[in-house]
Amino acid sequence: MQIDIGTTNAGQTIGLPLRFANRHGLVTGATGTGKTVTLQRLAEQFSAAGVPVFAADIKGDLSGIATNAPVTFWDVFGEKGHPIRTSVQEMGAVLLARMLNLNEAQAGTLAIALKRAEDQADYLLTLDDLRWQLQDMQDDRETVCQVYGNITAASIATIQRNVLTLEQQGGARLFGEPPFQITDLMRFVDGKGTVNLLHADGLMEAPKLYGTLIYWLLTELFRKLPEIGEVEKPRLVFFFDEAHLLFRDAPKHLLESVERIVRLVRSRGVGVYFVTQSPSDVPDGVLAQLGNRIQHALRAYTPKEQRFVTAAARAFRPNAGVDVEKAVLEMGLGEALVSTLIDDGVPTPVERVKVGMPKGQIGPISDIQRAVKIEQSALRVTYPAMVEGRRHVWEFQNRQRTARGLETLPFPTASEPAGAITMKEVLAPLTRMPQRPRNSVRGQLLWGIGWLATAGALMLIVAVL
Ligand SMILES: Nc1ncnc2c1ncn2[C@@H]1O[C@H](COP(=O)(O)OP(=O)(O)O)[C@@H](O)[C@H]1O
Ligand SMILES: [Mg+2]
Repeated sequence: MQIDIGTTNAGQTIGLPLRFANRHGLVTGATGTGKTVTLQRLAEQFSAAGVPVFAADIKGDLSGIATNAPVTFWDVFGEKGHPIRTSVQEMGAVLLARMLNLNEAQAGTLAIALKRAEDQADYLLTLDDLRWQLQDMQDDRETVCQVYGNITAASIATIQRNVLTLEQQGGARLFGEPPFQITDLMRFVDGKGTVNLLHADGLMEAPKLYGTLIYWLLTELFRKLPEIGEVEKPRLVFFFDEAHLLFRDAPKHLLESVERIVRLVRSRGVGVYFVTQSPSDVPDGVLAQLGNRIQHALRAYTPKEQRFVTAAARAFRPNAGVDVEKAVLEMGLGEALVSTLIDDGVPTPVERVKVGMPKGQIGPISDIQRAVKIEQSALRVTYPAMVEGRRHVWEFQNRQRTARGLETLPFPTASEPAGAITMKEVLAPLTRMPQRPRNSVRGQLLWGIGWLATAGALMLIVAVL
């Protein structure tokens, strides 16, 4: 079985064998040469072959896939898809330090904050929880230094400041309940794999948040999926459009772990495809692992660009019939040089291919079509747009305790049994509303109800008086 990429001039179909699809891949080419459309074609065909797909929809131009494949929409901000959330504790100090842009000393202090919370069995769910823990460490600094090692007031202050910045970028939404289950990416509708689109245009503005989120997802896949040997087809395929965002300014140790995790997820049956302008956007250690290559046209105006052309051409196994260096400069829209892995994982000689168009709509579907899909999604109940309140904090704490073999805690107040909605929970969305965009129907409804309730209460008081 194979994915059909396109046809050569001679009419030969060039495909990507599903068996080698977890040997990862790379789609490159100058802006506007057809990379994202190629991504869409591959994603649709993986889906049709029963392989679930995850793709970060960076520019919002992928949602047209929904016209030809079952799509699940995700959105860290919970507005254009189901929210993806986790806890500060589960994200871990290393990734969080990257998100918060911390230096080594500050990252050490952050690690102590998480360790201390762990020791106190008071696990950190949200950024607010982290803030309180840091504040507490500051107040109790002498003891903390004795037990955990030296921390400075300055590094605590920096972390606090950077937490604020992360919140301003919308980072707070990433932390909370219910927890995201990575296996929810691997769902099927009528034998087709679902295509999971992460709405990421807001994340473009916050590349560190985006990069860390993606890295965390890959780590989760590795942690949660059992190892499988040779596969007939991948369990899941990941596409990263605008992949340079993932690697830009990333510290060396993070690049090394990305390199490692990309290698490891392969044994979990996961294929990773990077889409970016130039192979030089991808670190060498990762690049070496990308067996399936699709190279769209490049432009070479400067000597540096000329070097990229030569490098791109050299990356392919030569084919007497194809002048790679010439082709890479002259290819038209949707044309590409293609080499995939075949038996024993050997790359095929390069072919010049006209990539076929996707069956689904090119470009985004409307906001209304999208809202309808989200409303109809089987996961809507699992991932409500907004969850607030003590019950969820309590559930989170107990889940952490269970995972560590600790006894679970009773719900805090006897007069309020678990499951009952408290006044605070009812009011939480209302008091939060000013921070949220007003254009959501739900938001407006809640505002309306809030005002009506207030007006009603006032009238009641007046009537009683
Ligand atoms: N295989 C193709 N056949 C015909 N037209 C294409 C093909 N691929 C892309 N295009 C056209 O080129 C435009 C830009 O393609 P896109 O994939 O967004 O470029 P990139 O992601 O490389 O910047 C698309 O809107 C589409 O109209
Ligand atoms: Mg693109």
